[in-house]
Amino acid sequence: MLLLRVQRSLVSSGKRAYHDLQTLPSTNKPVVSYGPPGYSAVSGHTVTIFGCTGFLGRYLASKIAKMGTQVIIPYRDEDEARIFKPMGDLGQIVRMEWDIRNEEQIAECLRHSDIVFNLAGRDFETKNFDFESVHVSGAERIASVAARSGVSRFVHVSHLNASATSESKFYQTKALGEERVKAAFPNATIVRPGSMFGYEDKLLNSLAMSPWWWKLNSGKTQIRPVHVLDVAQALANLVPESSLSSRTLSLPGPSTLTYDYLLDLVSAVTLRSTHSYVPAMPQGVATAVAKLSQSVWWPLMSPDEVTRRYLNDSETVGDWEELGITPSEIEPLALKYLRRYRSAETYTEPVEFPARPSLTTA
Ligand SMILES: NC(=O)c1ccc[n+]([C@@H]2O[C@H](COP(=O)([O-])OP(=O)(O)OC[C@H]3O[C@@H](n4cnc5c(N)ncnc54)[C@H](OP(=O)(O)O)[C@@H]3O)[C@@H](O)[C@H]2O)c1
Repeated sequence: MLLLRVQRSLVSSGKRAYHDLQTLPSTNKPVVSYGPPGYSAVSGHTVTIFGCTGFLGRYLASKIAKMGTQVIIPYRDEDEARIFKPMGDLGQIVRMEWDIRNEEQIAECLRHSDIVFNLAGRDFETKNFDFESVHVSGAERIASVAARSGVSRFVHVSHLNASATSESKFYQTKALGEERVKAAFPNATIVRPGSMFGYEDKLLNSLAMSPWWWKLNSGKTQIRPVHVLDVAQALANLVPESSLSSRTLSLPGPSTLTYDYLLDLVSAVTLRSTHSYVPAMPQGVATAVAKLSQSVWWPLMSPDEVTRRYLNDSETVGDWEELGITPSEIEPLALKYLRRYRSAETYTEPVEFPARPSLTTA
């Protein structure tokens, strides 16, 4: 932590930094930074971010590119990769097509990188990719190729609730994926964020658009929502900080809240009622509805998501301090992300936040 502070103060004063002393094991070349700090700097690092085209990945790529690090952007859909071009200086953003099943493409994507992030993950299964193929065999494949190619550091993003004994297949495969990654790349850093909120999230947006789906378990399920920019900054701070290799870092939000409270918060911020006339569904009925809805080709609530709606977030203590970050509470940011759900008449009205209920552990 102290080294991180010293390094930052050196970088901001234009002097050589701690990571200049690192050499890459594959080429034995030193990592040398030069140029002024910021957009046009060159940090000397090259980073590949698998899964960067998603919600968290775009913020991470932007933060890393702004530090002057060359970022390799593996993509499946050309349109998803377009937004990255202006995030870094000329030549600093390199887009490459990839398929998680293709070892050669994975090797090409990380050939020149000294740090590899794996964010690839999906909270629903598709006809081509089940949870296992993305979170377990996919993650293992990327980690093994990275180890074989002599990459210095590997950061794997899992989930706060990853557990081999969970009722949810998503959480089970996240836990199994962690094990396989550690077997393939023993020094890998595992990062476990809680449910993230932000502009493109599936939390606040879904609460505002489909409130009835959040009333499962009578809205009593407890979660620890975390701001996506805090998680992205925590991951970006790992680039110059090599002392956290081999660690598992949990990144839950600062408070434990119920879905019931979050619905009240969304209603207070959007100034729209989250009351619904759809009766509260028992778990069996919700699972049956979710199974039926899988016959359409666009993603709707999956049966595993119904299971997750009944599982409280893990109570693991967060490792924020080691990453130099104080996680943000959801209330001060809710208006920024939810104002678009207000009507023109109420667009500038002030917000009166609901009182937080005291929680009893289930
Ligand atoms: N969002 C949360 O609240 C949350 C909380 C805790 C942990 N996490 C984990 O954090 C990571 C990033 O989350 P996110 O919210 O950014 O997820 P996201 O928006 O769903 O993005 C997931 C990324 O993984 C890629 N991906 C998914 N399936 C793939 C496949 N079969 N082959 C290749 N790439 C694939 C996606 O690529 P395409 O763009 O090509 O589809 C995308 O870049 C995930 O591992 C997720 O499980 C998320």
